[in-house]
Amino acid sequence: METTKPIIAILGGTGKEGPGLALRWAKAGYQVIIGSRQPEKAENTAQAINQQLGLNTVIGMENPAAAHQADICVLTVVQSAHQEAILSVRAALQASAKDRLHNPPILVDATARVDFRNPLPPAPPAAARLAQDWLGDNVPVVAAFQTAPANALRDLDQPIHSDILVCTDNLEAAEKVIRLAQDGGMNAYYAGGLDNAIVVEGLTALLISLNKYYHVKTASVRISGVPTNPVEK
Ligand SMILES: NC(=O)c1ccc[n+]([C@@H]2O[C@H](COP(=O)([O-])OP(=O)(O)OC[C@H]3O[C@@H](n4cnc5c(N)ncnc54)[C@H](OP(=O)(O)O)[C@@H]3O)[C@@H](O)[C@H]2O)c1
Repeated sequence: METTKPIIAILGGTGKEGPGLALRWAKAGYQVIIGSRQPEKAENTAQAINQQLGLNTVIGMENPAAAHQADICVLTVVQSAHQEAILSVRAALQASAKDRLHNPPILVDATARVDFRNPLPPAPPAAARLAQDWLGDNVPVVAAFQTAPANALRDLDQPIHSDILVCTDNLEAAEKVIRLAQDGGMNAYYAGGLDNAIVVEGLTALLISLNKYYHVKTASVRISGVPTNPVEK
């Protein structure tokens, strides 16, 4: 049983998705580190989140330093930078995993490789499977949050009507990420192994198509028929 909350690093946390997740977790009492290729950009985003929440707990730094300090790293870089970003933090994550064999850092991959202009499901392997291959077995990878719309996350006045599908080959890591999602106000469900994440990536092609056709920015998915501990709305 964990007594303290894990430290969360949002790698590429200066864009659209990262700050939304950071807001939700900082508000829930997590120590959040914003990661970027540029420390100043990370610090500016952290400052903006602190100001919005009336906190001073969110900090910013370069991606590798953020990855080294975190218990859970959430990757929210633009799709085209997926490999480059993971390789830039690989040494930091592997060193951290070596230091803490029984509690390795987790990489959560929120990447959905779908083009907004022409939304089509990507071919396997899943982005998160590639991440696991690049990082090696000592760093568990979890695919999650690909279907959580940035616009919904950033609107703190509204509950999140978006369920999170969690795919990983490591059940212990899945449970930690499910708890993280719940603390951020989302229902989350274990949805099978890492290779299933290709379906979740493909699902975002449907969500982008829905957004475009119905002129909204918050299309998402809800799961029914599965018992869970629903979060309080
Ligand atoms: N937007 C959404 O609603 C949404 C929803 C669910 C999942 N996602 C997923 O979340 C991820 C981020 O989406 P986004 O819309 O937030 O993207 P974004 O705003 O376009 O970019 C996010 C960050 O990527 C970093 N980046 C850009 N080029 C890079 C490079 N060559 N190497 C390393 N980092 C680089 C930038 O950070 P720095 O310049 O600070 O390094 C940028 O702030 C994507 O994989 C997307 O599929 C997005």
